[in-house]
Amino acid sequence: MADYSKEINKRRTFAIISHPDAGKTTLTEKLLLYGGAINLAGSVKGKKTDRHAVSDWMEIEKQRGISVTSSVMQFNYGDYCINILDTPGHQDFSEDTYRTLMAADSAVMVIDASKGVENQTKKLFKVCVMRNIPIFTFINKMDREARDTYELLDDIETVLGIRTCPINWPIGSGKNFKGVYDRETKHITRFYAANNGQKEVDTVEVELGDESLDALIGKEQHGILSEEIELLDGASSEFDLEAVRGGKLTPVFFGSALTNFGVETFLKHFLSMTTTPLPRNTTEGVIDPATNEFSAFVFKIQANMNKAHRDRIAFMRICSGKFEAGMEVNHVQGGKKLRLSQPQQLMAQERKIVEEAYAGDIIGVFDPGIFSIGDTLCSTDKKFCYEGIPTFSPEHFAKVRQVDTMKRKQFLKGVSQIAQEGAIQIFQEFNTGMEEIIVGVVGVLQFDVLKFRLESEYGVEIRLEPLAYEYIRWIENKGIDISKLSVTSDTKKVKDLKGNPLLLFVHNWSIQTVLDRNKELKLSEFGKE
Ligand code: G4P
Repeated sequence: MADYSKEINKRRTFAIISHPDAGKTTLTEKLLLYGGAINLAGSVKGKKTDRHAVSDWMEIEKQRGISVTSSVMQFNYGDYCINILDTPGHQDFSEDTYRTLMAADSAVMVIDASKGVENQTKKLFKVCVMRNIPIFTFINKMDREARDTYELLDDIETVLGIRTCPINWPIGSGKNFKGVYDRETKHITRFYAANNGQKEVDTVEVELGDESLDALIGKEQHGILSEEIELLDGASSEFDLEAVRGGKLTPVFFGSALTNFGVETFLKHFLSMTTTPLPRNTTEGVIDPATNEFSAFVFKIQANMNKAHRDRIAFMRICSGKFEAGMEVNHVQGGKKLRLSQPQQLMAQERKIVEEAYAGDIIGVFDPGIFSIGDTLCSTDKKFCYEGIPTFSPEHFAKVRQVDTMKRKQFLKGVSQIAQEGAIQIFQEFNTGMEEIIVGVVGVLQFDVLKFRLESEYGVEIRLEPLAYEYIRWIENKGIDISKLSVTSDTKKVKDLKGNPLLLFVHNWSIQTVLDRNKELKLSEFGKE
């Protein structure tokens, strides 16, 4: 069989994660600029009011001026073919954000230098750690007053629990930001705020200790820098590529995405340190990307991108081999062979039809309602399945009430379909049927999305009553008698669509109390699909 290693080894597939406003969109834009994918920075996202320009498939995005779904951008840089998985940066993001990380081989974490590690970063980071994928840190906005550099590194180490290794070191910040010192080449790249980031800035390189540096960054800053670097060389973790690739050590870069400072250096280092698409586990052992025929798994389903057609797009990550338009594949979970028609790829603003793609790439295919999150597709002579995508814990819950009880059928169809896409999770009282439906979401925006979509697509009006539960645990013990479990007064027993039992809690401490009271009970934070 053909060996696709040449094409596959060029691929680098990563997700960019950040807390809203840390600069993820700006950094993505600048990276695309280097790939020539867009002509002028500013095309990915214009002014706040124009944000829907990137993906205007859903009315709600326009109303709120935010991007609800994640998209994928591909571009070439040198010999590399880069796939950036964009994750919604808004704080009301959904499970899609987490799932996107399952499709990535590494993650770039953008941190605002004046803020350090923020809430959203922590959550996303947890998923990266779960998968042991390499994490690269870009500390952004150095052109603004930043927190102390050592404090920022300490924050990453203590809050996120990962060792840090600065690849470069900032010289001042804000008005006094003079550039960065590259620890490997021992050179300084001088920062000049220019052209508002429309064009790459000029860089001047001089060695630390060189007298000409006094003129360039000032005698005082030269002195401080020399001290800091001496301290750093003695104290920081040594660079260790294996530890980086195992997700135990994060290389740290400083820069300013807006002014395009430090972005290309970051990209170059990042590309040399991150991995090509790696083998992944399946029910039939590990599948090597280059020496196997086509295989992929579905990590996201997006509804109604094209309003006129009411279609759904299933996004899949290719894990091995080559994809060719119109090829016949085995949909393992569906137990059927099918032809993948109209494959699409998202390029910044436009969707285009793809003729071929390789392991590491992401494609979107038309879904007539047959795919579920986590499904495997492979060549027709194979039947293996990629490891399931975990169901991430919802953090907000509400009771759903129908306004017009006559539309029960449409209502059930609507919520079930939306839940199947993975935008929401639905639960029922443990002992009753579908009379009472509880919906759980990762970000509260999904409540609005649910309400909006039930009305516009299914003609069903609903009311949502927020519930106080914030924590959910799947019960791992098979065959346990749920009615006999001794729980606290703030615990609710529910089941998911497949009948799996779960517990909802108002308080975090109740989880431990329930575990203490029921010694045999095993709870899990993630459900298996
Ligand atoms: P996000 O995707 O992580 O949410 O952040 P985004 O890139 O939208 O950046 C948030 C704000 O921070 C934007 O300003 C952006 O221009 C600014 N920003 C990004 N990188 C830098 C940087 O390196 N230095 C400085 N000083 N600012 C930066 P905004 O005014 O909120 O939005 P806009 O009106 O410019 O779009």
